[in-house]
Amino acid sequence: MFYAVVLAAGLGTRMRSPLAKVLHPILGRPMVGWVVEAIRGVGAAPILVVGHQAEAVAAAFAHQPDVRFARQERPLGTGDALRAALPLLPAEGPVLVLAGDTPLIGAETLRRLIAGWEAAGQGGQGTGSVVAVASFDAPDPHGYGRIVREPGGADRPTVRIVEQKDCTPAQALIREVNSGAYVFDAAHLRAALPGLQPNARTGEYYLTDLVPPDAVVIGGFAPEQFMGVNDRAALAEARGLLRLRLNRQWAMAGVDLPDLHSPLIEPTVHLEPDARLGVGAVLRGACRVAGEVGDFCVLEDTVVEAGAKVRAGTVAGGAIIRAGAVVGPMSHLRPGAVLEAGAHVGNYVEVKNSRIHAGAKANHLSYLGDAEVGAGANIGAGTITCNYDGFSKHRTQIGAGAFIGSNAALVAPVKIGAGAIIGAGTTVTEDVPADAIAVGRPPLKIAPGSAVRLRARLAAQKAQAQAQAQAQAQTQAMTTPQGPR
Ligand code: UD1
Ligand code: CA
Repeated sequence: MFYAVVLAAGLGTRMRSPLAKVLHPILGRPMVGWVVEAIRGVGAAPILVVGHQAEAVAAAFAHQPDVRFARQERPLGTGDALRAALPLLPAEGPVLVLAGDTPLIGAETLRRLIAGWEAAGQGGQGTGSVVAVASFDAPDPHGYGRIVREPGGADRPTVRIVEQKDCTPAQALIREVNSGAYVFDAAHLRAALPGLQPNARTGEYYLTDLVPPDAVVIGGFAPEQFMGVNDRAALAEARGLLRLRLNRQWAMAGVDLPDLHSPLIEPTVHLEPDARLGVGAVLRGACRVAGEVGDFCVLEDTVVEAGAKVRAGTVAGGAIIRAGAVVGPMSHLRPGAVLEAGAHVGNYVEVKNSRIHAGAKANHLSYLGDAEVGAGANIGAGTITCNYDGFSKHRTQIGAGAFIGSNAALVAPVKIGAGAIIGAGTTVTEDVPADAIAVGRPPLKIAPGSAVRLRARLAAQKAQAQAQAQAQAQTQAMTTPQGPR
């Protein structure tokens, strides 16, 4: 069994944020959660060393009982952080050690590191406990610990990790750096950690001091894998890189994307082959999409079945859009909105906790809340279900094939029978039986020729007001004294 310790107790001052660094979300998942996923990818048991905002970090993993926590009381350095995890480690056996601020690390990288450690063990280095360190060639090594190789005995040189602050000018030129990912044997940690001394200059306990001269350095990793997030610029960069990585996977799985950068797809989303996503589409949470999602739609926890279409600018959360249904452009589906096959919900229509049955249409400017809209019913523009009386929500039931005229107000609780017709502008306060016509609006008065007389009167009024204003301005100009001051 592999154990993996993630050091996540640091302060993260450079983030300039009240939120602990490792909790900053990347595609809906806390930064350190990405490291934990990579650990799960190799079947290791994650142990998080927490300190700064320990409770908040633990709470972020409350639904992941396999994650265990060790507490570092004060941030005294990476070596001290690892010491905090010691009580949770077995007597012996391999222990992966990783940093919590490297969210781009992938399972493949961990696999290579572990394989390198295993190979070195089989080779028999003589010490009995092998330490493996992952290194990479940094384009800019500043800030990293350098891998310093010195001529050693036997068949290979000895290694040492020298921190930036301790580098000689010559060492500072070395571009091969410590990634911060290691495999130790638990027995070695038990033996070496209690005697670890603080660095003479900084007073910090360096984890790198636990790396013996005969450690194996496993190099050649892509620098991106170990990109550390220390500030918000790096956070934004990590977000972009992870989004690109996920989008590429979806494209390879047959999802149609406008480009590899544009849709934002959280890792919790599931897409079917041939799903289509538009420019700027955002899919969060437990979305499942097999159909089409247009440009600039924002969907959360929403199902879009194959053959369903979500048009541009639609916002949906907790909705189900079945095959053949069409929604948008610019509709708003809220939790409990269900659009059955062939239902149409058009622009500026808001639907909440309502089932729109097969073939029913609400194409323009409506609010349908706590409603049942029967199959094939037609909801006219401007129709509102008045579902809230200031205290409780009430249901509206509309039968199959009913026709609701424009601007109807349906005051819930209310039932409209199948095939009933509601006249435009009607306020419905009582149940309407099936196939009945209900019209309720004030009588219309028509006065022939009145418009001509009204216009003449209004024009005369306006002319008179303008003449008065002019006369007033003239008298004022004559009485105001003029001349140089
Ligand atoms: C460390 C390495 C350096 C390596 C680099 C790779 C040491 C001494 N140096 O430096 O050789 O090149 O990582 O990124 O280890 N943490 C704690 N408690 C602490 C201090 C840190 O939990 O008391 C955690 C941090 O939250 C962070 C991780 O350990 O996730 C790394 O700490 P950080 O201070 O960033 O180390 P670096 O200076 O980057
Ligand atoms: Ca760091």
